[in-house]
Amino acid sequence: MIADATTAGISRLVYVSAATAPQDSDALTRILAKSRDNNRRDGITGLLIYHDMTFIQLLEGAPDDIARCFARISADPRHGSVSRVLDGPVAARSFPEWQMGFADTREMSSQARDKVLSIGELRTNGSASVSDDPGLSVLVKSLLGTLRG
Ligand SMILES: Cc1cc2nc3c(=O)[nH]c(=O)nc-3n(C[C@H](O)[C@H](O)[C@H](O)COP(=O)(O)O)c2cc1C
Repeated sequence: MIADATTAGISRLVYVSAATAPQDSDALTRILAKSRDNNRRDGITGLLIYHDMTFIQLLEGAPDDIARCFARISADPRHGSVSRVLDGPVAARSFPEWQMGFADTREMSSQARDKVLSIGELRTNGSASVSDDPGLSVLVKSLLGTLRG
């Protein structure tokens, strides 16, 4: 749990991106290990989902820290076409205990998994800028609600 002196200023960012290569569990473990180290330092928490060449990630923390982290992530060659889906202030963290949780689609409810698959399809088949697709933010919000239980 992050000691949160600045709960009033929590920013939440969710993006969807296309992996440049398929990610096996070793590759995901490396991403998560680095993320957890950095996020512990930066007071960032969140959740990463990977399925079939699509990353979905939620980051929450102080606005400046989120901006710096997202800039690093956006420049990472392990993915391209990073599209911000949700970005703005929230009253509280949704995943305060996770420096970066990993939500494995094989362990999700079928309801949550279906939403991940639909987000992946929208990313692959959608317009050039999926962040313009209103259906995507609706789906992501609904997925987050399902995952939080
Ligand atoms: C899908 C994905 C998610 C990532 N998530 C994070 C993250 O939550 N926090 C973070 O610091 N780096 C994350 N990274 C790694 C960054 O892109 C970058 O490699 C790292 O922040 C550089 O850290 P360094 O300057 O300490 O070497 C992620 C990378 C990928 C591909």
